Amino acid sequence: MKKLEERILRDGVVKPGGILKVDSFLNHQIDTQLCYDMAKEICELYKDEEITKILTIEASGISIATMTGFVMGVPVVFAKKAMSKNISDNVYAVEVYSFTKKATKNVIVSKEYINPGDKILIVDDFLAMGSALEGLSSIAEQAGAQVVGAAIVVEKAFQPGGEKLRARGMRIESLARVASMSDDSLTFVEE
Ligand code: G4P
Repeated sequence: MKKLEERILRDGVVKPGGILKVDSFLNHQIDTQLCYDMAKEICELYKDEEITKILTIEASGISIATMTGFVMGVPVVFAKKAMSKNISDNVYAVEVYSFTKKATKNVIVSKEYINPGDKILIVDDFLAMGSALEGLSSIAEQAGAQVVGAAIVVEKAFQPGGEKLRARGMRIESLARVASMSDDSLTFVEE
């Protein structure tokens, strides 16, 4: 998505360890117009699917997921990162390892909010190693729901998550795919 790529080039900041900071428009302050434009784009990409629910993970996936849910007219469920190891019977749970944060978290969703027969679109801000997507897919599977695909704002295409999950047959639509980044340059995958 051209507008997003231009914004990343203008306001994104590359940090050591291959981290792209987009705090000024996505992860801390949210540019609501850009968020709305991205949600419309995601809606267009998945218009032929009868999506019943959007699933994301806290924290920074929630803004784009909510806007997308609003544009599509469907509810948004966000997985919570649980502190406790005592997981109750009323939740679907999965362990998600964050390579960026070097920590494993239990991720939970109440059984009330995902049902068999739901057609789920997973929405998230970043795709890097793919562990968040894998975890959210596992939660949808536990619920007997179908994952129609995923919509991602920024895919770091130089990390293996996207390729790994596409090879397993998952539909993943990314609005910007970063091919490489360094202190002084950032390139996108040519589509
Ligand atoms: P994954 O999300 O594809 O599994 O990859 P990874 O384990 O590397 O990512 C862990 C966390 O770091 C995720 O957020 C992910 O969105 C975020 N992340 C990964 N790469 C970048 C990056 O280049 N820039 C930014 N800003 N974030 C990145 P999270 O742990 O789920 O938490 P939260 O930050 O949404 O609260």
